[in-house]
Amino acid sequence: MAKVEVVLGLNYGDEGKGKISTFLAQDSDIALRCTGGNNAGHTVEFNGTKIVFHLIPSGILNKDTEAVIGNGVVIDPKVLFEEIEILKENKVDLTKLHISTRAHLIFPYHVLEDKLHEYLKEDDKVGTTARGIGPCYMDKADRIGLRVIDMYSDSFEKKLRRNIKNKNKVFELFGFETLDEEQIVSDYLKYRDMMKPYVIDTVSYLHKAIDENKKIICEGAQATGLDMDLGDYPMVTSSNPTIGGIQTGSGLGAKDITSVYGVCKAYASRVGEGPFITEQNNETGDLIRELGHEYGATTKRPRRCGWMDLVALKYAVKVNGVTALALNHLDTIGKLGNAKLCVGYKLDGIVYDESNDAIIGRENEVEPIYEEFETNFEIKGEIDYNNLPENAKKYIERIEKHLSVPVKFIGTGPDNDDMIIR
Ligand code: IMP
Repeated sequence: MAKVEVVLGLNYGDEGKGKISTFLAQDSDIALRCTGGNNAGHTVEFNGTKIVFHLIPSGILNKDTEAVIGNGVVIDPKVLFEEIEILKENKVDLTKLHISTRAHLIFPYHVLEDKLHEYLKEDDKVGTTARGIGPCYMDKADRIGLRVIDMYSDSFEKKLRRNIKNKNKVFELFGFETLDEEQIVSDYLKYRDMMKPYVIDTVSYLHKAIDENKKIICEGAQATGLDMDLGDYPMVTSSNPTIGGIQTGSGLGAKDITSVYGVCKAYASRVGEGPFITEQNNETGDLIRELGHEYGATTKRPRRCGWMDLVALKYAVKVNGVTALALNHLDTIGKLGNAKLCVGYKLDGIVYDESNDAIIGRENEVEPIYEEFETNFEIKGEIDYNNLPENAKKYIERIEKHLSVPVKFIGTGPDNDDMIIR
């Protein structure tokens, strides 16, 4: 039987999806990315070198794992080729990389538009990664986006020039710099040739792999709270990082997916603006940030930190159809001495145990209901659940009770091997 395992973030990104994906990719035939672009980032240690992945599935580091950038991903070719260069330097076989004909391309005007659109939002800035992600998906929806396959069509240059001219008019209108049309055209004609060896019909490729009973691991990007439909709109990314995005971003069918692993941390964090009900904007939050090294892999921004929110997680588990959880940073919680789990939201005298639209726009009025736990344990590198102290087990069992899914993977340290598998 073919196996398709999906790894998704359940909060606001940065849950440590990379660690679980890297582990699951070890015996996978294919590692797949389906959504987002180089707004994502995760660092993998490979033969003593730290490699930061933004676009290419990190599973490519395994000798026998092929890597696929699916149709739902938005690709900045400059970033792609920087990543390819690093992989080549590390002697990774790049013939294993496959890029979808249907994936949309990010152009320099998208990056500038990202800045312009944030500027125009005045007090309502999203705090994007400024990588052009939103504007690229906007052009896709507006049907003026250019896909990988479009680069090989006779009309590519004409369409690209039209887009640059139109965008430059807007940049000029708002007093922004304009872009060099000739430079962009010349760069992308080069990228077209450079990308050619990697471009395939990834949908057919994946369907064939399913027919051949292969194992596929889908590396999710971003997370449920950032989903454009199911997250905290408008403080979201411009794609669907939930399970639906895995399907539209790859062409895999619903029945192909065999496991959905939801990743979260034993506390919570968020980058950028937006509601964060369990945020600890105080010394506790600062301590979690330092102990958990909560600084962005892509932007280096310090992350906002707070307590684990089982109310938001219950919603995330349901909308994604999560079959098991991966809980990271249990060791970090153990260094705090005490920790809280948010098990309810109180608003207008009503208690919610799962996120509800009644709280939209009223997050500041919500009173989080916490249960307190003693979390004073040293478990760095532990790999056996039975060896965990009772306090740690109690914490995990409370999470399982609220979410009604088993915790299958438990992160007990920063290294890839620091993990309990139940
Ligand atoms: P964008 O995806 O660059 O448009 O940014 C939109 C929002 O999503 C911002 O709040 C970003 O900080 C957040 N975001 C995007 N990608 C990631 C990620 O990989 N991890 C965490 N936050 C992210």
